[in-house]
Amino acid sequence: MKLETNSLSLLTEALERMEHGFAHLPDFHPATDTHSMRRVLLEVAERMQDNYPYFHPLYAGQMLKPPHPIARLAYMLSMWINPNNHALDGGRASSQMEKEAVAEIAHMFGWETHLGHLAAGGTMANLEALWVSGKLNPGKTILASTQAHYTHSRISEVLQLPFEAIPCDHRARMDIAALEERLRKGDVGTVVATIGTTGTGAVDPLPEILELRDKYGFRLHADAAYGGYFVLVDNLAARTRAAYNRLGEVDSLVVDPHKHGLQPYGCGCILFRDPSVGVLYKHDSPYTYFSSSKLHLGEISLECSRAGASAVALWATQRLLPMTREGEFARGLASCHEAALRLYTQLHNDSRFLTMYHPELDIVIFAPRAEKSSDISRLSAELFEVAASHDLHLALFSYPSVLLRDTWPQIAFDGDVVECLRSCLMKPEHLEWNDQIWKLLMDSADALNR
Ligand SMILES: Cc1ncc(COP(=O)(O)O)c(C=O)c1O
Repeated sequence: MKLETNSLSLLTEALERMEHGFAHLPDFHPATDTHSMRRVLLEVAERMQDNYPYFHPLYAGQMLKPPHPIARLAYMLSMWINPNNHALDGGRASSQMEKEAVAEIAHMFGWETHLGHLAAGGTMANLEALWVSGKLNPGKTILASTQAHYTHSRISEVLQLPFEAIPCDHRARMDIAALEERLRKGDVGTVVATIGTTGTGAVDPLPEILELRDKYGFRLHADAAYGGYFVLVDNLAARTRAAYNRLGEVDSLVVDPHKHGLQPYGCGCILFRDPSVGVLYKHDSPYTYFSSSKLHLGEISLECSRAGASAVALWATQRLLPMTREGEFARGLASCHEAALRLYTQLHNDSRFLTMYHPELDIVIFAPRAEKSSDISRLSAELFEVAASHDLHLALFSYPSVLLRDTWPQIAFDGDVVECLRSCLMKPEHLEWNDQIWKLLMDSADALNR
């Protein structure tokens, strides 16, 4: 196995191009002790071997996806400037690139106008959405499903707003009847619809939630941190597609370029449909904002300093792989979904495994078959270890038993949760690696101590 290094020569060429813009300055060479740096860097290289191989198709576990080489290079290139996208004073070019890249993301959801920016990640982006929602609905309750990311209850705690979890149906989507029952009691300010849950990639029933918004009037936020980009994909099941078709109708939306957008970590994105929420961010800063009367991103963001490099990397990636329904980027995501469907079918047709339902996106949940749920949990944990020893890296997921009783009526549930295996097939290459992944899974299942 060789790491991709061919593209590194482009970095030197691009650095020389960037240097032209500063050629008029007097010569300046910061001291570098390359001998000592080499020693330390090689030590770093040794230390970094203690990682799972996230970049390799045999890593099919957690939500971890390698950045595109163009994102890596553009990020590195901008490190020679190290722009700060808080203010135009700290990152003029990268702030403009951020505005353009974010507008393209908004456009992907059909928004011609919006307010938005990049953030450190999904947590910070969701914090902003719920902070704005809380300012518009002070003291009112925030609802999200029991399968929503834990960040929503924690953010509500930070914002000192009441939070309640709405039960899910057997497909791990928000249960609409339960949501309506709660809405009838009143005092709900915000509903969070998860578009691609962290555990199973389930997509909450957005058309039905939108109908309830018309009836009960609340602010609707979509946490599409994981699933947002699948709006571009044309091979989703009809019910899932129906949710994506209405995504542009929510009030705010989070999508994480550092999940499915091929970006290095440190890149989330928050978007508001109504740009006028910008007034809520108003603050006075005596230090910044003096070089231009144009919008400084720090004026519409909770974070102060932010990596301009993230914007540069995202802009470059979107330039290379435009986010269109027919483009290479969309095809890559469609192939992840297909890889998940294929693995699901293989598992479903093998009597040694238990499956649940067709994956809505690219996450497959399964477990070795046993009669009792505690035995299923034990076998899942064993299979996780055995597969890793065969260099196939999966993840584990604690599935609430209550959501499984209808799906697995033959199982005796003797605990509140069942440990299952979880595989996020986030790399387009996962489809062509299916045979090898399946063979390693079979070898691992054969080696299981039943
Ligand atoms: C649906 C969803 N929302 C929010 C988050 C939190 O995002 P981050 O880890 O970037 O802070 C995650 C992370 O997995 C997620 O899957």
